[in-house]
Amino acid sequence: MILVFGGNGQLGQELRRAAGTRAVALHALSHAEADIADSAAVVVALARFKPSLVVNAAAYTKVDLAESHVEEARRGNEIGPAVVAQACAGAGIPMIHISTDYVFDGAKEGAYPESDPVCPISVYGRTKAAGEDAVRRINKSHVILRTAWIYSEFGHNFLKTILGLAATRDELRIVADQHGSPTSASELAEAVLNATSAFLHDRTLAGTYHFTAAGDTTWHGFASRVVEVAARITGRNPQLIPIATADYPTAAKRPANSLLDCRLFIEKFGFRPRHWTVGVDATTRIVAASAQNAAESQKAANQKNASHVA
Ligand SMILES: NC(=O)c1ccc[n+]([C@@H]2O[C@H](COP(=O)([O-])OP(=O)(O)OC[C@H]3O[C@@H](n4cnc5c(N)ncnc54)[C@H](OP(=O)(O)O)[C@@H]3O)[C@@H](O)[C@H]2O)c1
Repeated sequence: MILVFGGNGQLGQELRRAAGTRAVALHALSHAEADIADSAAVVVALARFKPSLVVNAAAYTKVDLAESHVEEARRGNEIGPAVVAQACAGAGIPMIHISTDYVFDGAKEGAYPESDPVCPISVYGRTKAAGEDAVRRINKSHVILRTAWIYSEFGHNFLKTILGLAATRDELRIVADQHGSPTSASELAEAVLNATSAFLHDRTLAGTYHFTAAGDTTWHGFASRVVEVAARITGRNPQLIPIATADYPTAAKRPANSLLDCRLFIEKFGFRPRHWTVGVDATTRIVAASAQNAAESQKAANQKNASHVA
């Protein structure tokens, strides 16, 4: 059985769903059920579920808030992974730990291979890099999987934010000078399950890998695709104005280049990501259709109620 920490996050929920489809035995614990920075809670969970492998999908992911909530970010991204690595090492359990493109500064041209030195420019990035170091140091039996620009039907993410804004605004200003590969949490979950079975059979696969969708775009390109696909369902087609990062100040600095070179993961695990538009189109259709259905049901209910009003 696979035990997941951070089970109610975007990836955690997609892991539950992917495991259900594949009939893989997996149990996912939410933050409320197990705080990864709480050593006793993690040790108890391992003793109770006796997993053959642990996936740590838990993290403090509020990138801007992390700048002012450093201790909370350290708890989720640095101390927590160290605690999980320690408990797994003590019980002889291999682990897959999820990390981020934000360990890089984004100043480089082209995609980052795993061998590039990290150079984080935010509290989130620094704490995630420290979490990676802890996992490497404490549990040799690890796969660290860095990913980027995750979205899903579940939780909060850029795709859902754009759909929400497109419903009410006629104009959106979107950053067009940061580059990355929007990655579906459901495809990432498939990649993680693939890596899980391969790693359980071959421990020499231990190491650090990159996995994102294929191809690249900007936040503006990502938003344009979402709006274009959703417009066929909602009829809403706001104008998207490209802006520079400097025109949209945020608490945390973000890498201008978030592209990760995923060739090592493809070679070692035999799992090839699809182009980013495939997942974005599919998730946009699902989220837009469900919002449209909810709006139509509400409208019908309002009309029904109005018919009783003189
Ligand atoms: N989202 C992205 O664009 C992105 C990009 C690159 C890499 N990643 C990495 O991908 C992984 C999964 O991200 P995601 O998008 O699925 O994140 P998410 O939706 O924010 O989920 C993270 C989950 O971790 C939980 N959590 C936070 N602190 C915890 C703690 N101390 N103990 C146990 N659980 C805790 C959160 O619970 P609460 O909400 O209750 O705190 C939440 O359910 C993370 O490692 C993240 O750093 C994400």
